[in-house]
Amino acid sequence: MIKTVATTPFQDQKPGTSGLRKKVPVFQQANYVENFVQSIFDSLEGFQGKTLVIGGDGRFYNREAIQVAMKIAAGNGFGRVLVGQGGILSTPAASNVIRKRGAFGGIILSASHNPGGPDGDFGIKYNASNGGPAPEKITDAIFARTRAISAYKISDAPDIDLDCLGATTLDGMSVEVIDPVEDYLALMRELFDFGAIRSMVAGGFTMTFDAMSAVTGPYATKILEGELGFKPGSVINGIPKPDFGGHHPDPNLVHAKEIYDLAMSDHAPDICAASDGDGDRNLIIGRGIFVTPSDSLAALAANAHLAPGYAKGLAGIARSMPTSAAADQVAKKKGIGIYETPTGWKFFGNLLDAGLATICGEESAGTGSNHVREKDGLWAVLLWLNILAVRRESVKAIMEDHWRTYGRNYYARHDYEEVASEGANALVQALRDALPTMQGQRFGALDVASADDFAYHDPVDGSDSAHQGIRILFTDGARIVYRLSGTGTAGATLRVYIERAEPETGRLDLETGDALKDVIDLSRSIAKIEHYTGRREPSVIT
Ligand code: G6P
Ligand code: ZN
Repeated sequence: MIKTVATTPFQDQKPGTSGLRKKVPVFQQANYVENFVQSIFDSLEGFQGKTLVIGGDGRFYNREAIQVAMKIAAGNGFGRVLVGQGGILSTPAASNVIRKRGAFGGIILSASHNPGGPDGDFGIKYNASNGGPAPEKITDAIFARTRAISAYKISDAPDIDLDCLGATTLDGMSVEVIDPVEDYLALMRELFDFGAIRSMVAGGFTMTFDAMSAVTGPYATKILEGELGFKPGSVINGIPKPDFGGHHPDPNLVHAKEIYDLAMSDHAPDICAASDGDGDRNLIIGRGIFVTPSDSLAALAANAHLAPGYAKGLAGIARSMPTSAAADQVAKKKGIGIYETPTGWKFFGNLLDAGLATICGEESAGTGSNHVREKDGLWAVLLWLNILAVRRESVKAIMEDHWRTYGRNYYARHDYEEVASEGANALVQALRDALPTMQGQRFGALDVASADDFAYHDPVDGSDSAHQGIRILFTDGARIVYRLSGTGTAGATLRVYIERAEPETGRLDLETGDALKDVIDLSRSIAKIEHYTGRREPSVIT
C-alpha cells in the first residue's frame, strides 16, 4: 500500500557542490532521508511510469537509504527502479546506466571521498537523464522544497533483497537488481584497446591499483585482473567496506601514501593508481613520478587520440578554474577549444552535451570525458594504460616529453581544513574588498596583472555563476587562487591553489616546492592566513 505520511521540514537540507552531505547520525534522524527524497521528486516533472537508477558507494547506511528511496519512488509513481546488486554502483557507472538504459534520472548515495562508518559521512545526490549531477536550477528547487515539505508518499511493502540479481515488484513498480559492473565494462571495451593493453601486460608491465576498500574494488578486479591480465593481487583493498576499513578514501598523497611510497621505491610497479570512495576520482603515480591531476588532464588530452574511443581527436578541453593551465597549452597547440568553469563537475555537463568539450578535468583528482556525465577514476587509469600500451614509454618519459612540448605548470594545493567558518569567511571578504586596487600592485618580486572573483557565464544555457573563487594573476604567469571548499562537513576548509608556468624552454626539472616557494609565501601573506585562521601551515598539501 502507498501511504501518505505527514512530516515537518528540516532547515539544513541544502545540496552542496555534489548533493546533500552530512554526518550519518544526521541522516539517521526520523524522516530525514524520506523528506529529502520526496523533495527531489517534488522538484521534478514527468517521471510517472519512467525508470529511476539507484546505487551507492557501499558506505555505512547505503542499504537503508536505498530501501527508503525505492519505496518513495514507488509511492510517487516511478515505473521501474534499476538498482545495483548489493546497493553498489560507482558514480560513473550510475551515470552510464542512466544514459544507456534511457532512465529519467538517478539517485546516487555517496559522500565521495569523505570517510564512512557510523560517525562518518553520508550523502544523497540526484542525477538527471543525461547522467550528470542535477543543475543548480534543480538543486535550488529541491532545497526550497525541503523547507516547505509537509508529507511524503511511501510504499509500506517489505524490503527488497538487494543481493539477488533479477526483477521483482514493489507496490506495482518493477525493481531490477542489476550487475553493477556489466554495462560499465562494455563501455570501457568500446573506448579502449583492451588487446593492446593485454599484450603490454603479457610483456611484463606491472601495476598496483588501490581501491581503498571502496566502490571501485569490483570494477577494478574484474577489468584489470580479469580482462587485462594483471596478476592477482594487483588490485589492493579491493573489497568495498561500509567504513572503508577505517581509512579516508581520498586518493591523494596523504591518504594513499602506501602506494606513493611503493611507486617511489626500488621495487615500484610500472604504474600505481587509486580511486576514491565512489570511484570518480583518480590518482596516477608512475615509477618515481607523481602526476598532478592538472598534468594528468593535460597529458591525457594530448594523447587521447591513441585510444580508439578518441581516435578522431577532441572537440575541446574543459577544466575548472583552480585547475592549472597545463591543459590550455595543449588546447592552444592543437587548435581546439578550452573552457574554464567553476569548481564542480556539473558545470561540464552542458559543454559535453553540446559537443564543445570532449575531455574535462579538475585539480581535485577528477578526469573524465563525454562517455558519461561524471568524472571517472577507472576510465582515467584505462586511458593512461592505453596510451602507455601504444607509446611503450614510461609514465616519467611521457611526462618529461610533455613538458618539453607544452611547458610545465608547477602546481600545488594547500588546504587549511576545519578552520572556523567566521575567520574563513572574513578572509575571503577581505580579499574581495581588496580586489579593486590589486591590479598593478607589487608583492615581493611579483606584480599583479589582474585579480577578480571568478564568475562564469555558461555559453550553452546562458546561466551565470558568481563568486567562484578569488584569483590573482601575476605578470610572470604565476597565479594564486583562494576558495572555500563546498564539500566539507565540519567548519570551513580554505583551499589555496598555487601555480607557476614555465615555458618549454625553461627549467622543467625543479622540485615543485622549490619552484613555487616565493608564490607559496605570498599566498600566506596576501590573504593574512594566520591572522584569520590561526594556522601557520596548511593541514594537507596535494
Ligand atoms: C566534488 C565534485 C568535484 C569538485 C569537488 C570540489 O568532488 O564532484 O567536481 O571538484 O567536489 O570540492 P571542494 O571541496 O573543493 O568544493
Ligand atoms: Zn568521488
